[in-house]
Amino acid sequence: MNEAPLRLWRNAHIATLAGDPAASPWGALIERGALLARGEHIAWVGPEGELPRDIDVAEEHDLGGACLTPGLIDCHTHLVYAGSRAHEFELRLQGASYEAIARAGGGIRSTVAATRAADDETLFALTLPRARALMAEGVTSIEIKSGYGLSLTDEACCLRVARRVGEALGITVRTTCLAAHALPPEFEGRADDYIAAVVEWLPQLQAQGLVDAVDAFCERIAFTPAQTRRVFEAARGLGLPVKLHAEQLSDQGGAALAASFDALSCDHLEYLSAEGVAAMAAAGTVAVLLPGAFYFLRETKLPPIDALREAGVPIAIATDHNPGSSPTLSPLLMLNMACTLFRLTPAEALRGLTVNAARALGLQATHGTLEPGKRADLALWAVDHPRDLAYRFGGANPCRRVVSGGVDMEL
Ligand code: NIG
Ligand code: FE
Repeated sequence: MNEAPLRLWRNAHIATLAGDPAASPWGALIERGALLARGEHIAWVGPEGELPRDIDVAEEHDLGGACLTPGLIDCHTHLVYAGSRAHEFELRLQGASYEAIARAGGGIRSTVAATRAADDETLFALTLPRARALMAEGVTSIEIKSGYGLSLTDEACCLRVARRVGEALGITVRTTCLAAHALPPEFEGRADDYIAAVVEWLPQLQAQGLVDAVDAFCERIAFTPAQTRRVFEAARGLGLPVKLHAEQLSDQGGAALAASFDALSCDHLEYLSAEGVAAMAAAGTVAVLLPGAFYFLRETKLPPIDALREAGVPIAIATDHNPGSSPTLSPLLMLNMACTLFRLTPAEALRGLTVNAARALGLQATHGTLEPGKRADLALWAVDHPRDLAYRFGGANPCRRVVSGGVDMEL
């Protein structure tokens, strides 16, 4: 029989993150655990003493008691862009608001200008090290949005770069078309015409295999709920799942709208209302919280964490890496901030970067937990207990190894 070789990782403190979090927030915590992978998939996980006998292991790794978790999943990033917004950071520190800078033509538009001026190769060369930096802290799956091209060719270019990054690194990349991110200057005063253009681009981008999901920015400085609805209707017509940048700066009722389209996730959510929470709960939509943007924009209004918890809305955490509101490449810092700023427990935070992040990408059947049949995406940490991952912050990177689809990655 021509089966893929078995690989074994043993002598590990394993947190599977699988099963009901009410019963066990880390999933099974296995003191002296072992994990077997056949090819790309997990074949077995459990206590080392119970390893199946008579197996022919091609490769064996003694992990020396280190912690083994699912590879982290960064389910919200804007990784493809050129230019810097450090100057806007200075302006904000002098009192200018994120919204005022955007209205004055800076913000997303300034990144669009820099991104359009860069060619494919330059964008690829800028994006690759960003993805590598995420991997160095345990990430094996990344969602990458477009949204700094805002024309058919420039959006296609950014999405192609995203795909290429996944292929070059051997990790999972999910692409999200965020053409409805901001109004490009050539459409000034014609937001409805721009939305009509986006609706025309979507099938073309999809036909090129570039779109796994569709996102929009529903906000005073971006698009109205009515315009967002048109984008979502187009996505639905193409069979593409939707997500939304919702209630980041104000309550637009975006989350309820997205939930009515069975959105995979609504993201940011500082201004989310009780109705929004209820609509997300009913639709099974994931709340993706972004502590980096909350921190960097010096937001003071917290997302309604208790209400989300009580309603049973799954909570994910992501870096939201982008040059304007969250220029971080540290998922571990996000774990820490999710706890300190949003009062998540360390286990909730780690679930947010694994099992619930998988769900925010529609990947829950294949990613996010250590269970037989799932992809062998692993992160190995020099810590005693997984809670340590959220405890440290800034420069203390305990990640020792990541494995994507059963293959050791170069860090
Ligand atoms: O997720 N809110 C909109 N989009 C990004 C920020 C984009 C930018 O400022 O360049 C976000 O925060
Ligand atoms: Fe974002």
